[in-house]
Amino acid sequence: MLNEKMLNAINKQINAEMYSAYLYLSMEAHFQSISLKGFANWMRAQAQEEMMHAMKFYDYVYERGGTVTLEAIDKPETTWESPLAVFEAVLEHEKHVTRLINDLVDLAIQEKDHASNIFLQWFVTEQVEEEASASEVIDKLKLIEGTRAGLFMVDGELGKRVFTTTETAAE
Ligand code: FEO
Repeated sequence: MLNEKMLNAINKQINAEMYSAYLYLSMEAHFQSISLKGFANWMRAQAQEEMMHAMKFYDYVYERGGTVTLEAIDKPETTWESPLAVFEAVLEHEKHVTRLINDLVDLAIQEKDHASNIFLQWFVTEQVEEEASASEVIDKLKLIEGTRAGLFMVDGELGKRVFTTTETAAE
């Protein structure tokens, strides 16, 4: 059974993961609107991954005998000034999520909730990957210095990303 503090914190995290999905879907719509289909594809896969994260927390609450409480999801931004600005926003957002996950781990330790601590370790590892993949795209976008040819090349690469539940399901 989850104690109340842990339950409330995990319910908040479900909201944060759903907001992440919403934010990346908004970025997907932005890229669609400027005809960068590969970038849009990457964002759609990212949004699907965030929904999977939300559902992992969601299912965990039930596994531990708790009740999920859903709250309103904030409105995400809808426009960015460049593809680089989008990915810099992704990295900033993922750093924020990393802090949230670390706070959850701290709480699990404080509450002596060993099961939650172990459950959260998957997310600790996942956040390393999340920050690395955003940084990788930022590096590429900096290298091409906004050239049209470079942008199309990166668009082609990002278009190859496929969301699979095994992509991050290393449980
Ligand atoms: Fe669910 Fe991108 O962290």
